[in-house]
Amino acid sequence: MAILKIARMGHPVLLARAAEVEDVRAAEGRRLLADMVATLKDAGGVGLAAPQVFASVRLFIFYVPESRAGSGGALPLTAVFNPVVTPLDEEMELGWEGCLSIPGLRAAVPRYKKVRLSGLGIEGEALNMVLEGFAARVVQHEADHLDGMMYPMRMRDFRYFGFNEEMDRNPVPLPGEVL
Ligand code: NI
Repeated sequence: MAILKIARMGHPVLLARAAEVEDVRAAEGRRLLADMVATLKDAGGVGLAAPQVFASVRLFIFYVPESRAGSGGALPLTAVFNPVVTPLDEEMELGWEGCLSIPGLRAAVPRYKKVRLSGLGIEGEALNMVLEGFAARVVQHEADHLDGMMYPMRMRDFRYFGFNEEMDRNPVPLPGEVL
């Protein structure tokens, strides 16, 4: 296992459409997956997409820690090859997001509240999950990376974009939120 370098916004690998994974069980994919798990643990995020470690293939990993579980519940670390994220209703909500490829910053980004995540698991088995709230947000963010999308491209109001250090000192309420 190796801890990989994480591409930062501005590198073209983050703007490309990643390729489908042909054989989920190939040694190459397994090595990449193990390295992504080690890299995510080291970096301390909740999700990582393969293009963020310079591998332009359709694979991401994510989890939902207890501290972020909310009403949707916690989820263990899950790997998804060739993921497809489909909104299950039209309702969207604003929530804070960061990205390991945009270190030190966060922003309020609109995302669908409820989605279906399908794709293939590490043994090539079909995955099919209905996710809400934070989990839905995370998989929409990670799936975007496979299509060359980064969260600033989804933003509607740049007043809700800033450095973590500043925003921790001066918390900004989201519309309708009371701090
Ligand atoms: Ni990201």
